Amino acid sequence: MKADISNLKEEFFRLYGDRDNEPVLFYSPGRVNLIGEHTDYNGGYVFPCALDFGTYLMVRRSSSQEIRMNSLNFPGEVTVQVALNYMPIPKSWTNYPVGVINEFARKGIGAPAMEMLFTGDIPNGAGLSSSASIEMVTAVAMNELTGSGLDMMEMVKMGQKAENGFVGMNCGIMDQFAVGFGRKDHAINLNCDSLDFRYAPVNLGDRRLIITNTNKRRGLTDSKYNERRSECEKAVELISAHRPIRNLSELTVNDLWMLDSYIPDPVVRKRAKHVITENGRTLAAIKALENNDIELLGKLMNESHDSLCKDYEVTGAELDTLVYEGRKLPGVVGTRMTGAGFGGCTVSIVESKHADEFIRKLGETYTAKTGLVADFYLPGIGDGARMI
Ligand code: GLA
Repeated sequence: MKADISNLKEEFFRLYGDRDNEPVLFYSPGRVNLIGEHTDYNGGYVFPCALDFGTYLMVRRSSSQEIRMNSLNFPGEVTVQVALNYMPIPKSWTNYPVGVINEFARKGIGAPAMEMLFTGDIPNGAGLSSSASIEMVTAVAMNELTGSGLDMMEMVKMGQKAENGFVGMNCGIMDQFAVGFGRKDHAINLNCDSLDFRYAPVNLGDRRLIITNTNKRRGLTDSKYNERRSECEKAVELISAHRPIRNLSELTVNDLWMLDSYIPDPVVRKRAKHVITENGRTLAAIKALENNDIELLGKLMNESHDSLCKDYEVTGAELDTLVYEGRKLPGVVGTRMTGAGFGGCTVSIVESKHADEFIRKLGETYTAKTGLVADFYLPGIGDGARMI
């Protein structure tokens, strides 16, 4: 899957004219998380990779007072006046770029008047970080156009802030981080509390990654996501009455007894259990990949999904069908949901020789059981956001 950008410049000139004034091209990938789900906003570990498909932004300064935005993925032009601060437009895709432009403005870096054309091939709302990708491509473009010299870490934080404050999705830092810092053929071992990270080569030998999209319509994902965050905060508060902690990731599996003793609500208890056990699985998975023990990595991915299904309750019938039916097929080393959940995608490690069969059989079973048609992607792992 690769966006066809051969006509992008032609489309740019058709929209904005002035063929003598060359635009500049920027790119930012999507991401898939191998393991470590719903741990980032709990100060825990994640293990994502940037994908080799993403979002392109063609942009140039203009002499007006406006920021004109078009996308080949969404109809219609949106124009905002260059300002000191910006307001969200209800339900508009432009809240992602404008949210980032607003973060630059908050740092005293005013946006120039610009003409922007976006295009990309990350399916929207599929949990592969199409939003973080738009945010980070805007950030690197703004950085370049204004000559601000911000480093990637700063821009990652600004992307997250834009999503939290401007879009209203209370996400952690994983997506913007993976999209910003991605490296070809590597996963990122990130501690979301300290933001220390290391790259880990992803060498799957004769197995490959397959991403499967449930194509379930995005429903209550954002509100359910924010609800999970509050449940984790509640758990921290209850435990802190006995032993002060800043976040759930300060606890390990040896501390699980605290949940039974200090958290009366069984739902909040389960949420905390997921976070603590998921951190353990993520660290073990990072080690397994380092040791080239892909079978163990797959087993931990399976356990991660089970925990997200039973304890964190963010999977749902569609993701569960893909995962539990997928596991019955030959050559499947591990399979789990990836991203926020409630729909979106699964990520699987499958023996290459069984990949076609996996796609065919799982596709058939999924449609028979859910009435939906799944999409399958065979992604490569790519580099992070940059100027082209
Ligand atoms: C979404 C959020 C991330 C992370 C994942 C769950 O992708 O944007 O910050 O919390 O869900 O792991």
